[in-house]
Amino acid sequence: MELATTLTSQTVQNAVREVGINPNYWYPVGWASELKRGEVMPAMIWLCAIALYRDTNGQLHALEDACPHKGVALHKGKVQGCHLACPYHGWEFDGEGNCANIPYLPEGQKLPRAQARSYPVQEKYNLIWVFPGDSTLAATCELPDIPEFDQPGWLMVPITARFQAHFSICNENTMDVFHGFLHQGLQGWFDPILISLRETETSVCAEYNVSYKGRMAQFLGLSERADQVTTLPISIEYRYPNYYTSLQGVSSLYLMRLPVAPVESRSFAFFFFKVRLPQWVLKPLKPLLLPLLQRFVLYKFLDQDIEMIESEQRTYTANPKRRYVEINPAIIALQRLIVRQYEQYMQKSRQPRPYGNRDSEKSLSRSGSDACGELL
Ligand code: FES
Ligand SMILES: [Fe+2]
Repeated sequence: MELATTLTSQTVQNAVREVGINPNYWYPVGWASELKRGEVMPAMIWLCAIALYRDTNGQLHALEDACPHKGVALHKGKVQGCHLACPYHGWEFDGEGNCANIPYLPEGQKLPRAQARSYPVQEKYNLIWVFPGDSTLAATCELPDIPEFDQPGWLMVPITARFQAHFSICNENTMDVFHGFLHQGLQGWFDPILISLRETETSVCAEYNVSYKGRMAQFLGLSERADQVTTLPISIEYRYPNYYTSLQGVSSLYLMRLPVAPVESRSFAFFFFKVRLPQWVLKPLKPLLLPLLQRFVLYKFLDQDIEMIESEQRTYTANPKRRYVEINPAIIALQRLIVRQYEQYMQKSRQPRPYGNRDSEKSLSRSGSDACGELL
């Protein structure tokens, strides 16, 4: 559905700061290359603690991070072949979470029926993805398509970030092109105009015209000359729960959001920059270029965003009844989508819970544990 692009005043429904996630999607939890064979690592998706391990054959597994014996965190355990052994009494669990061995059980005695929940897990684009919801839906839910990942001619810069904020606040920052003001010292962008806005059941797609100028813009290939203003259309699509941003073949951004807890989020992003250099020149330059781009460009923008996002969260937490005004219809549509996804999930799981206009800390922690309760 096409929506009006007029900037008009609307009151923000604070419910969007309190909703949980729809867990019936794949969520990224870490870089696949950082989990070697025989290693375990913890992950958290909306308060659900998960122990990820790669067995000695290289296969990934995701188990609930709580031993069925006494609840000890399994990510503190050890990989033994295809099993994960709990650190306390050494009970071993297979990839499906079934108890497969108890080291002190007398021979011939039956193993107890004890199972840790297991989650569908896969790796793609060097990311580990976990499906925390109804596992029967995992096979029909697709991962984001990132064609640039395998295409030559793009320089890929991976970026991760942590935010002490609800995922809705983080997501609004990505959709909000009107905050170029914040980045003006970094020669970001200016004079944005919202030119189209579409909303579907699962996505919001906004197109803006944005202008660039300066050495930074030139370095990133956004403008031809530093003293020249270049205006380009940028499309930003939020397809729950991830982002796809494209700047007319010059650069693109794929940003995957991990809601960790009611006021904690992470992101795993890939920036792609079109490079006009041949591969044989680019390849040896990459190890030099990547850290430079990360440190002196992308993390500088990100640090400014994090400061704003966390400030927004702190003010909200201090007074969740305060009213806020938004004029960008893309943000309002995004908020609708985030609330809708949660409501639909809760309705389907037939356990509707009220939310909104509640005492902040109490309500935030409740919406978090609701979702986690559903997952468990
Ligand atoms: S608590 Fe895990 S084996 Fe005892
Ligand atoms: Fe920003």
